[in-house]
Amino acid sequence: MASVSVDEAMRRAVALAARGLGATSPNPVVGCVLLDADGEVVGEGFHAYAGGPHAEIVALAQAGKRARGGTAVVTLEPCDHTGRTGPCSHALIAAGVSRVVVAVPDPNPVASGGAATLRAAGIEVTLGVRTEEAEAGNIAWLTSMRRGWPYLIWKYAATLDGRSAAADGTSMWITSEAARTDVHALRGTVDAVLAGVGTVLADDPRLTARNLRDGTLAIRQPLRVVVDSSGRTPADARVRDGAARTWVATAAEVGAGPDGRVDLTALLAELHHRGVRAALLEGGPTLAGAFLAAGLVDRIVGYVAPKLLGAGPTALRDAGVTTIADAIELEITDVTPVGPDLRITALPRKREA
Ligand SMILES: NC(=O)c1ccc[n+]([C@@H]2O[C@H](COP(=O)([O-])OP(=O)(O)OC[C@H]3O[C@@H](n4cnc5c(N)ncnc54)[C@H](OP(=O)(O)O)[C@@H]3O)[C@@H](O)[C@H]2O)c1
Repeated sequence: MASVSVDEAMRRAVALAARGLGATSPNPVVGCVLLDADGEVVGEGFHAYAGGPHAEIVALAQAGKRARGGTAVVTLEPCDHTGRTGPCSHALIAAGVSRVVVAVPDPNPVASGGAATLRAAGIEVTLGVRTEEAEAGNIAWLTSMRRGWPYLIWKYAATLDGRSAAADGTSMWITSEAARTDVHALRGTVDAVLAGVGTVLADDPRLTARNLRDGTLAIRQPLRVVVDSSGRTPADARVRDGAARTWVATAAEVGAGPDGRVDLTALLAELHHRGVRAALLEGGPTLAGAFLAAGLVDRIVGYVAPKLLGAGPTALRDAGVTTIADAIELEITDVTPVGPDLRITALPRKREA
C-alpha cells in the first residue's frame, strides 16, 4: 500500500469516527489510523459502542508488530484512565509507537492526560491536526463535556408559511416520507428525544427510531423524554409502549421554574447525569419556545414543505422575543433538498451578555 501523509490519515480518522455516531454515548466518537515507520496504513479503528474497544486498540490489534516505530493518528487525545477498558496511552506505549498525532485534546478531566503520559514515555506528541473537522464530528460530545449539559438540536416541520398544523389541528403529514425518514435517521444519532406533553396529548407520537416502511425498530433507541410538569401523560400513550425507554419528566421530580413548569436547565443537567450527550427536541412550539428563550438550543433543523396553510399554529410560540431587535439571529450552515422538502440547518448566534 502507498504511504499517506499524517494529514490524509487524520482525514480518514475523522471519517472513521463518524461511523460510531449515535452508538458511543456517554463516550465520544473516535477514529484512529496507524501508520508504520514508512507511512503506510497498517491499522484502522473507531469506537463503535460504549464499553467496546477504543479506536486505538482496534487499530493496534490490526497493526500487530507493524505498529512499532509507527505513528498513531487519533481524532481525540488517547485516554489515560481505566474505565470499562484500559488506558489507550499505555497500550500505545506498549506497542512501541514513536509518534502520536492528535486532533483535539480530551476535555474530560477523568480521561485526559494521555498526551502527558505519552510524552513522559518518550513518544513525540503532535496536537492540532485537522482540529476543526474533528471538533465538528464530535461537537455534541465535546460541547456537553465542556459545559455539563447535552447538546440540544431542535427539529421541526413546517409549511413555507411557517405553520406546523392546519386550523383544524391536523398535521399529518406536513412533510414528505423522505423528510420523515431523514428524521428517523437523525433520531438514531442522539441519546434522547424530547417532546412536551402537549405534543403527546395532540399526536400520541411513538418517538422511536424506526424504518417508516415496515415499522422495524432501529437496534439502538434514544431515551424518550416527555416534559410534563404535572404528569398528564396518559397511561396508554404510545410513548409508554415499551418499545424504548421512556422518562416522563415532571416538575416534582426535576424541579420547577418560576412559572411552575419543568425547570429546563435542571432537566438538561439530569439528562447529562444519565449519560445523554446529544438530545433532539421534537416538539412542539410551546416547549421549543421555552428552550430557545432560555438559550438552551445549540442547533436547529427545520424541514420546510412546499405547502401553504395560511392559518393554524406556527412552528414556534413565545420564545421571549417582543421586538425585532431581539430576534434570535441564526447562521444557516446547510440547506439540503430532502424529497420535495428542504432541510435547513442553522445555529443560533450567541447573544451579547
Ligand atoms: N410541526 C412540528 O414539527 C411539530 C412538532 C411537535 C408538535 N407539533 C404540534 O404541536 C402541537 C402541540 O403544541 P404544544 O405547544 O402544546 O406542544 P409541546 O410544546 O410539545 O408541549 C407543551 C407543553 O409542555 C409542557 N411543559 C413542561 N415544562 C415546560 C416548560 N418549561 N416550558 C414550556 N412548556 C413546558 C407544558 O405543559 P405542562 O405545563 O402541563 O407540563 C406545555 O403545555 C400539536 O398540534 C402538534 O401536532 C408540531
